[in-house]
Amino acid sequence: MTQRLFFDCDTGIDDSVALLYLLARTDVDIVGIASTAGNVPVDVVAANNLAWLSLCERGEIPVHRGPDGPLVAPLMTTEDTHGPLGVGYAELPTSDLVVADTDAPDAWLDAAQAHDGELVGLVTGPLTSLATAIRRDPSLPRRLRRLVIMGGAFHVHGNTTPVAEWNIAVDPEAAAEVFAAFGVDGAPAPIVCPLDLTETVALLPDHLVRLAAAAGSTPVEYPDPTDEAGIRSVADNPIVRHLVDAMRFYLEFHDAHDEGYLAHLHDPFAAMVALDPAIADTLPAQVGVELTGALTRGMTVADERGMWGGTPNARIATATDVDAVFDHLIETIASLARQIGGSA
Ligand code: RIB
Ligand code: CA
Repeated sequence: MTQRLFFDCDTGIDDSVALLYLLARTDVDIVGIASTAGNVPVDVVAANNLAWLSLCERGEIPVHRGPDGPLVAPLMTTEDTHGPLGVGYAELPTSDLVVADTDAPDAWLDAAQAHDGELVGLVTGPLTSLATAIRRDPSLPRRLRRLVIMGGAFHVHGNTTPVAEWNIAVDPEAAAEVFAAFGVDGAPAPIVCPLDLTETVALLPDHLVRLAAAAGSTPVEYPDPTDEAGIRSVADNPIVRHLVDAMRFYLEFHDAHDEGYLAHLHDPFAAMVALDPAIADTLPAQVGVELTGALTRGMTVADERGMWGGTPNARIATATDVDAVFDHLIETIASLARQIGGSA
């Protein structure tokens, strides 16, 4: 069955992998892509989305521009994590595609109304665009079939503050408004993919080797921490080449931050959950976002035991089969690479 999906992202390196995965899935109708400011400014996010779509010959998918910045907080970006243009060392061919006239919040509303009760929402960036859409039309949440959010950290250290995960920390007010609007009044409880789980989905160089080989790309390259920083891939397959260039930056970033020469694939995992929630174990919880704590602003707090007396408004993804996730991710993206690289 074809699933209709609306993708809201702050492309970004792992958002890019999520987008390639979604484009590779032949059973998914990507209704639209919302570009939300986060990893990089909104216009860079939009340009990256357009460039990937152009490379993958999918220019028919509309890309929408989100707000300039968060609802309240000043915008913070993280080029040190994702590269000056948000795609690591990749130098994507510039696209002649342009963003749609409809802005991202209205695109959310249009998609939800056009596919009332069918649409799967996936957010792998700050929740600014989605929260703005809900402010414009509070009926949006109950029109969605499913919402999956990559965000939050519950029982692990934050990656932006000691307690806050990036997507939430960029726009805590938006996250608070989204969590308050779902899991109530007929709106589905979002499936939340937090760092607790997404940091176990750690790409290693061998995964890139397997992907290149499965794509029929040559030469098959093995990024190594002893390589000269920033060397560019010479893979003959364009998807593999740009993906390796993007991932090499991410591998170097994690290595430089004592995580090891690996790359947390937060967003592709959330994309896989959006299409097949059964790949993750989940638990119900009431989730809130701290907004005023001097030390804890942006923290996601989960009441897993009913202490607050309310009802669960979210399901937190807690476990998955990481090997199976990578087997599927590699096979799926390799199929796209073969198609685009002409060796389908
Ligand atoms: O904390 C990880 C998340 O923040 C990922 O979505 C990454 O792309 C950044 O947006
Ligand atoms: Ca992201």
